[in-house]
Amino acid sequence: MIDWPNQGRRHLVFKMLAPEAKNWHLTTMAKSKSYVCSSCGHTTTKWSGRCEACGKWNSISQDKGLSFGAGKASLGNARGTVVELSRLSSKDVLPERTLSGIEELDRVLGGGLVSASATLVGGDPGIGKSTLLLQAAARFAQNGLKTIYISGEEASAQIRLRARRLGLLEASVLLGAETNLRNILTTLAEEKPNLVIIDSIQTVWADSVESAPGSVNQVRVTSHELTNFAKSHGLSVILVGHVTKEGQIAGPRIVEHMVDTVLYFEGERGHQFRILRAVKNRFGPADEIGVFEMTGQGLRQVTNPSALFLSERGEPSPGSVVFAGIEGTRPLLVEIQALVSASPHSQPRRAVIGWDSARLAMVLAVLESRCAIPFKGYDVYLNVAGGLKISEPAADLAVAAALLSALQNLSLPGDTVIFGEISLSGALRPVNQTENRLKEAKKLGFSRAIAPTQEKQTGLKDMRQERVVDLASFVSGMFQEFVP
Ligand code: TYD
Ligand code: MG
Repeated sequence: MIDWPNQGRRHLVFKMLAPEAKNWHLTTMAKSKSYVCSSCGHTTTKWSGRCEACGKWNSISQDKGLSFGAGKASLGNARGTVVELSRLSSKDVLPERTLSGIEELDRVLGGGLVSASATLVGGDPGIGKSTLLLQAAARFAQNGLKTIYISGEEASAQIRLRARRLGLLEASVLLGAETNLRNILTTLAEEKPNLVIIDSIQTVWADSVESAPGSVNQVRVTSHELTNFAKSHGLSVILVGHVTKEGQIAGPRIVEHMVDTVLYFEGERGHQFRILRAVKNRFGPADEIGVFEMTGQGLRQVTNPSALFLSERGEPSPGSVVFAGIEGTRPLLVEIQALVSASPHSQPRRAVIGWDSARLAMVLAVLESRCAIPFKGYDVYLNVAGGLKISEPAADLAVAAALLSALQNLSLPGDTVIFGEISLSGALRPVNQTENRLKEAKKLGFSRAIAPTQEKQTGLKDMRQERVVDLASFVSGMFQEFVP
């Protein structure tokens, strides 16, 4: 257990911080007025009732954060180092990494945790961030990193309860319950860990900032201090940030540009699947996902997500289509479900879960104007099964197929996967990684793929590939396909 610092030690931390503080950050520049949105972090020079970036009302307030003041920055007393690119040693180029052994996490991190890096893990409250990070902390500690888990949300006793549930009571992780930034930094300076997890950044407060913990200014200053400290002391920091729709608490958005890696933990409440998604990664591919399942004993990684996402699929039914997608570097099959029903409203409903609603509007418009299939007077509901969010345009064709199938109330054969991007002209565009998609489909027992015209993938026996040029020919083909 950590021995929290007493008053005397605070002095030491303050001295350590003082030179930087004097130089630039934490200075309040009341004269050069700028305003910031507490919801999205957008800054502006003029106050208004509504944020022009995120559209939220009453979220703009005066920005008292990191500001030089226009034209007021003076020269510092030390010059920085500059090095010729060609002179960098491979040690500078290839960062040192530690694996957690949880493959789904290591892959999303780009091949393990990079030393002296800063990572943000964002997500809705209750989605499982603390659970994931406690499990990760235990594994990193096991693999040689001295790890401190600092919680401002739960008491150590509560964390121990969770650890017992996760079977991690023996883990050599140091726990701390602290929210004061100075005390946290003092602890880190004395304990010299390799990894610190701050759960959550919204609970940490700096006494040099007037506003309440969780406000934009506090979150900005504390995450800036923590990442700076981590970089200069060679330790890795993982910040947990809640995303709230209310916008009262500053979302982790403003932290995104300060850190090296941004991961979001997503999932639908009431569903056991959880997706860890990299949205920014200075040390690996962005858009990589890791799939987990929330169980009674914590999160379990899912190494074959396609099988899991399709596991709830029954017999072929109207409106259901299997899309062969790619998430990051990995193929992933998911079921797309559509429901089309006569609408009692003059403005029919369009509701989407797991896909982009603007994209749905586009597919509907192309079906109407290029293929003369009217959706006027119908409510349209679209759902990506399993709580996954997909952003690939390659899902267009699968969505169109699901909509047609739902409209006709007829099913597609169960052995078929569909993918392809639809352009506004109604033409179909080939998509990337066709071969990977087909291989994954074959692995899961599908024997037929409908996709845009392109070179036929050879070496895939038992996989019928049907290639279509445009949406109109796809639609006329579909009508002969349907099985009652
Ligand atoms: P938690 O990690 O506290 O979420 P966050 O830190 O993102 O707010 O997880 C919260 C939910 O996870 C909670 O509703 C209980 C559930 N849970 C399980 O289902 N199994 C478990 O083993 C654990 C620890 C939590
Ligand atoms: Mg938590």
